[in-house]
Amino acid sequence: MTSFFAPGKLILLGEHGVVYGHPALAAAISRGVHAYAEPSASSQLELPEGLNEAQQAALERAFAVAAKLTKHPKVSVSVSSDLPVSMGLGSSGALAVAVTRALLDAAKQKPDLARIEKIAMAMEKEFHGTPSGVDHTTSARGSMVLYQKGKVTTLKGRRPVKVLVALVGERASTKSTVAALRERQAKWPRRYARIFEEIGRLAKEGATAVKQGDLDALGDLMNLNQGLLSALQLSSDRIDAMTRRLRAHGALGAKLTGAGGDGGAVIGLFREPEHMVKKLQEEGIDCFSSQLAGPIAL
Ligand code: PMV
Repeated sequence: MTSFFAPGKLILLGEHGVVYGHPALAAAISRGVHAYAEPSASSQLELPEGLNEAQQAALERAFAVAAKLTKHPKVSVSVSSDLPVSMGLGSSGALAVAVTRALLDAAKQKPDLARIEKIAMAMEKEFHGTPSGVDHTTSARGSMVLYQKGKVTTLKGRRPVKVLVALVGERASTKSTVAALRERQAKWPRRYARIFEEIGRLAKEGATAVKQGDLDALGDLMNLNQGLLSALQLSSDRIDAMTRRLRAHGALGAKLTGAGGDGGAVIGLFREPEHMVKKLQEEGIDCFSSQLAGPIAL
């Protein structure tokens, strides 16, 4: 059996604006998806446990698309993940990249980045409808990126960027949250375009802050970004409460990450998050820390 790993991601700045062509600052995290490949009579996917019917159907469609694009290699693929599903941590993007790597290997095709990203994007479309591509691109590159459709810059920070990731409960699918926002945007396009543009600007400034090692500026940008996501009705009481709590305990910035909605993941930027991770865990909150840039990213 051969195994292939792809990391999850989190978005530091710029979710949703990125769907409308603006930049987002995203980074790979240490958790992710393993795809395991075994020789078989045909291309097959073993469905993982714990998915609902809609998620299973989307996964089957996505696998069929990827198998077709890799010319149906004779391989059985199973997956395991330590990323929570549909929480904003890029589980589908990571799954798409890991499965693509497994299929390309079985098909004896070169796993170059452009090809991996093309196939993973086709899979992501089955999961999300109109994905920006930020999730699977960040996963495929395994680093911090400033992502804009058609343009990807890999970033190296001068200083470690460490975040606490807190899971604050179930949320609707990215597909439905993105679609609901699209309806509002279609009704009042100019007003929403202004907000998306500003979100994109924050992401660009965030990339500069990372390069300069200016964590205070990065934190401030995250707080402003959270305000705009809230204006877009993408936040909730649970998310707001966690951002306030993290800030009150010394986070330089805090915001939701990913599609948002009722729950999902909230990130807090800390110089040293470990103490806070321990404290929240003791209070029963599901959380962990990840280093996103600097000498030992991931
Ligand atoms: O699926 P999530 O929660 O990681 O969200 C992805 C980020 C969005 O900008 C909301 C959607 C996209 O396609 O970029």
